[in-house]
Order: sequence, then structure tokens, then C-alpha cells
Amino acid sequence: MSNSINTKSKKVLVIGLGQLGLPVAKYVNDKGFDVYGYDINSESMLRAREKIGIKTTTSFRNFDIYIICVSTHNPSDISSPQIEGLISVINKISMEANNGSLVSIESTIPLGTSKKIFELLEHRLHVVHAPHRWYSLEEEKYGVNQLRVIGGVNPCCLKLGEEFYTGHSKCGAQVFPDDEFVNNYNGQEKTDRSTQGPSTFIENSFIMDTTQINSQGYSPSLEIPMHTVSTIEIAELTKIIENSHRYLQIAFAEELYLYCQANNILFSELRDALNTKWNVEILEPRGGIGGHCLPKDTKMFLNSSKVRSKILLSAMEVDSLYRDFMTRREKKLITSVENLKN
Ligand SMILES: NC(=O)c1ccc[n+]([C@@H]2O[C@H](COP(=O)([O-])OP(=O)(O)OC[C@H]3O[C@@H](n4cnc5c(N)ncnc54)[C@H](O)[C@@H]3O)[C@@H](O)[C@H]2O)c1
Repeated sequence: MSNSINTKSKKVLVIGLGQLGLPVAKYVNDKGFDVYGYDINSESMLRAREKIGIKTTTSFRNFDIYIICVSTHNPSDISSPQIEGLISVINKISMEANNGSLVSIESTIPLGTSKKIFELLEHRLHVVHAPHRWYSLEEEKYGVNQLRVIGGVNPCCLKLGEEFYTGHSKCGAQVFPDDEFVNNYNGQEKTDRSTQGPSTFIENSFIMDTTQINSQGYSPSLEIPMHTVSTIEIAELTKIIENSHRYLQIAFAEELYLYCQANNILFSELRDALNTKWNVEILEPRGGIGGHCLPKDTKMFLNSSKVRSKILLSAMEVDSLYRDFMTRREKKLITSVENLKN
């Protein structure tokens, strides 16, 4: 089995064909890979066939790469994380996928999820996390091929992931022949490979072999610039902290808005004045911090630590006060319009 993702005929399955998965599938297809799509929702599969012309399938067999773009929020409360859907996808991959394939998680996930997934896959598949920064309102600039972060469970996972995304690997991991990798795991044989070769296998983990730097370029690839991090946890944290940071910025704008309302100050004028300074960027508060990304990802970050972030908890409180204020104001407006009519 090959350890390099270096041919155009590689079969890729994009799982989850929603707001993110659809442009991802289109991009990978445009790059010349043999792309299939799967979604739990048959209408999403139909849309993928009609809109971007990819094939769809319900079988997870015989793919080289699995890109996971499923939702990770609770369907009945979009501001709360839920990874049951993701886990069910992983169980299906575990049952049907070939040893040594690559699983790239592009969905936003709680800290520690990637390693759990690697365990569920019984260490038979390579796992990387390449969280997305896709922004629907500015797809040209912040689309699929913008700079992203990538981390791997093991150096061999990272090597395959880097090859797939960028075309080359900066990682010096020596990747064992996959059959050997799998036989060893299946036989529960934890061998110290330092006696057999240059890499070491300890507790089912690979230690990077820096003597085996891979200077070979791989082509074609997705040609996406990637920032490599040394652990998959850093990749997981990067995404949820990015969005927590954005949450804070919006909450601050909401608080300023409430301040202006309470003190009879024109918010727009104050904001314009503040934003003339080179290092100040006060955002415009709108209808509250909504959608299925910022609130959920901020909760993922909050839940990732035993020490709860005071500043984020306060930001959530501010957002709630701001929403209450906006709802009361809207109600007042409706009442006054109705009074005017009568
Ligand atoms: N939309 C964005 O701008 C954006 C940006 C960065 C990261 N993300 C992250 O990407 C992930 C997907 O987001 P999205 O906006 O595409 O969500 P979405 O709700 O638009 O799409 C998710 C898709 O996953 C499918 N799905 C859910 N469970 C499934 C399962 N078990 N098997 C197969 N398909 C399943 C749904 O049917 C849906 O089509 C989330 O983790 C989100 O936080 C989204």
C-alpha cells in the first residue's frame, strides 16, 4: 500500500455536504482528484450531484482520503457542541475503510477528539486535523485554499496530510509500510523498533525520525498553504480559540453599544472615532452572536479547561443582555407602530 498521496487518481470521499463540505468537494474535484460525496441528508447529496457535478455514494469502501465536514452542533440547540454524528461517521469508516487511508477532520471539534477518533479507528488509519476558516460572505478571499493549520496524531499521519494539502511534507517521519503498521497493531505487539530500524514505536505512537527528512515534492495536491503544528491538540485549540477571540470582539462591541444607550451617546459616531486609531477595530454589533460556529466553538473552548475563562463567561452574559435589549426594543417598536395605526 502506498504511503504517498501523489497521483491524480486518488479517491476522496467528502463526508458532510453542507455549507462547508460543498465548496470543499468542489475544490478537491477541481484539483483533479476522484471525488465522491456522502451526507446523511439525501437532498444534500442530490444538490452536490446537481450543483458541483460530483458522484455520491453511501459506501465508505476503497477511498484513499476521507475529508470530514459534518456538523458538530446539537441540532436542537445550534449554540451547543455535539459530536455524535461525527462519531457515527467514524464508526462507519472504521468498518469499511482500508488500512492506511487518510482521515482529515475539517469540522470544528472539541479538544481531544482527534485522538479519540484515532482510537476508534484502532490506529489503522492516519488522522489529521485541518480545521477550516471558510467564510461564506467572502469566499474569494477566505475560501477553501486560504492558509490553514494542520496537526497529525502521529508524524506519519502528518506526513500524509501535508502531502495531500500542500504537495510536500516538512515532517521527517519515516512511515512504515502500512501492512507492517497494521499487523503490529492487530497483533497487539508493541515492539521497540529502534532495534529494527531508525524509527521507534512506543505505546502505539510514532517517534519522529529526524534522519529521514523527506525532501521529495509531491504533485498534484490541493495546493493549500498549511501551517504545521507539532501536536494535533494545538490544531484543535487553534480553531476554537480563533472563534472565541472573535466572540470576545463582538461582545465588546455589544457592551459599548449598551453603554451608549444607557448614557445617551451616539454609538456609530463613537465607533467611527475610535476606529481612526491604527490598532483599534471596534466591530458593529448586529443581532447578537448567533449561527452554528461562534457560540458553539466558544463553548468548546470553555469546556476544554478545568479553569473556566472568566472573560468568556462575561462575554456570554453581555451577549445575552444585548439580545434582551434588542428584543425589548423591537417589541416597543412594533407596539408603537401598531398604536400609530390605531
Ligand atoms: N460554515 C462555515 O462557515 C464554517 C467555517 C469553518 C468551520 N465550520 C465547521 O465545519 C463543520 C460543518 O459546518 P457547516 O457549516 O458545513 O454545517 P452545515 O450544517 O451547513 O452542514 C453539515 C452537513 O453535515 C451533514 N451531517 C450531519 N451529520 C452527519 C452524519 N452523521 N453523516 C453524514 N452527514 C452528516 C448535514 O446533513 C449537513 O449537510 C462544523 O463543524 C462547523 O463548525 C464551518
